[in-house]
Parts: sequence; C-alpha cells; structure tokens
Amino acid sequence: MKFFGRKDPQAGGQLDLSKLPRHIAIIMDGNGRWAKKRGLPRTAGHAAGAETFRRVATYCKNIGIEYLTVYAFSTENWSRPADEVKAIMDILEKYLQEAIETMERDRVKMKFFGDVTFLSAKLQKLIAETEKISARFDGVQVNMCVNYGGRDEILRAARAYAIEYKASGTALTEESFSRYMFSSGLPDPDLIIRPSGEMRLSNFLLWQSAYAELYFTETLWPDFDERTLDRAIISFQKRDRRFGGVKGQVK
Ligand code: FPP
Repeated sequence: MKFFGRKDPQAGGQLDLSKLPRHIAIIMDGNGRWAKKRGLPRTAGHAAGAETFRRVATYCKNIGIEYLTVYAFSTENWSRPADEVKAIMDILEKYLQEAIETMERDRVKMKFFGDVTFLSAKLQKLIAETEKISARFDGVQVNMCVNYGGRDEILRAARAYAIEYKASGTALTEESFSRYMFSSGLPDPDLIIRPSGEMRLSNFLLWQSAYAELYFTETLWPDFDERTLDRAIISFQKRDRRFGGVKGQVK
C-alpha cells in the first residue's frame, strides 16, 4: 500500500494510491452560491469554477486517476438567463484557447460528451482542435460534458442502435448498447462527486452510474481543492462494493 497526502483529521484516513478509483465524475455545482456569498455576479462563480476544474484535473493527473468526467453544461442549462449562458460559453472558449496553448506541457487528453452541434462555430472548432491535439496524450483523460443530458444520451444511443439493427441485426446487450454512449470504451465511473450540498444526479451519466459510489459534500465547487478530493477518495476507499453480489465474492 502506498499512502499519500498530508494529515487531514477530517478525512478519516489517508489516501491509498494503490486503491484509486479509475474513473471519477464530478457535478461542478455551487458556483452561483459561491459568488452570491461574496457579493459577486454569478458569472464570477463560473470563472472561479473553471479555475477549480483546472486545479482538480491537474491533481487527478498527478496522483494517477485515469478518467475524470465533469458536468460543465447540461441540456437543461439553456433555460438560464441568456447572459449567464453566454458567460459560461465564453469561459469555456477562453479555457480551451489556453488549454490548446499549454497542451504539450499539460498532456491531458480531452474528450467532449454531449451534442456540441448546438454550440457556436468557434467553440465547436476549439473542441475539435482540443480533441485532435490531445488524442495522443496518455495521462488522465478528461471528459467534459457540454450540452449533455443522461436521458438525451440514452435516446441518442437507442436511435443509433435502431438504425444499426435494421442494417445488421446486432444483438442488444448492455455491452453492445454501451458502445453508442459518449463514454463508449471507457470504464463506468467508480465515484461520482457532487459538491454544494445537493444530493441528486441531475441527469448526469444515468446509464454509466449504475454501480457508482456517490459522495456529497457541502463545499461549493469553487472552494473544492485537492484536500476535498482526497476526502472523497478516502471515503470511496472505505466502501464495500458488491455490484449486486455478496461480500467477499466480487473483486
Ligand atoms: C453549476 O453551478 C455550474 C454550472 C451550471 C456551470 C459549470 C461551469 C463551469 C465550472 C465553467 C465551465 C468551464 C470549464 C473550463 C470547466 P450553479 O450555477 O448551478 O450554482 P448554484 O447552484 O450555486 O446556483
């Protein structure tokens, strides 16, 4: 066992680097409340949230997490005021521009889950470029969910399967259906984290979350840091994952 990290009395233990979750998914929630507490516009919360994302992704890479999936913009988030939607898109644009410039140094592989055809032409171009340049990196893979909804993903998969079934009669199994998801080929998330005190999935990874361990914290996303992630992982490491079996019979 290789332990890691500073002593954190609230963590209830130390991070065990030999038992890391392969795939962590995060609902980056609480940006608006973080800004409000400081008398700032909500958009300042999103900008701070983007910086937190940068920090958390770097930490995941450094400790050896293989996949990090984050919920940046849902299919329902379009109902927010137009200026807030624009601000989030602008932050994403700026982030990707910077990411492209520093990619050789950071070596983070980036993928996007969601229907990006609804985004601006500029953002779509940046997304395509980011995916193309980073495809050869093999450290952490970050999946950024933009215009993503779990139900929408399942419907899209069902439509794609129906077309293929007509052509070739492919059998429908959990494994074959998974291939139509944005997450095709990736392991399901082991740990889903939601900051900000809310305790729901909000249409995030509905298919993939079947056996994910859930972790909720009151910390607002812009205040989330390496130590908060350590606590979530330490909690995960104490769970008894049975995947529907009985204790001691599953890996
Ligand atoms: C939820 O908090 C947050 C969002 C809907 C947007 C998240 C977007 C970012 C963190 C920026 C995206 C860019 C990158 C590079 C990751 P909320 O606004 O619902 O917060 P509240 O519940 O406190 O109002």
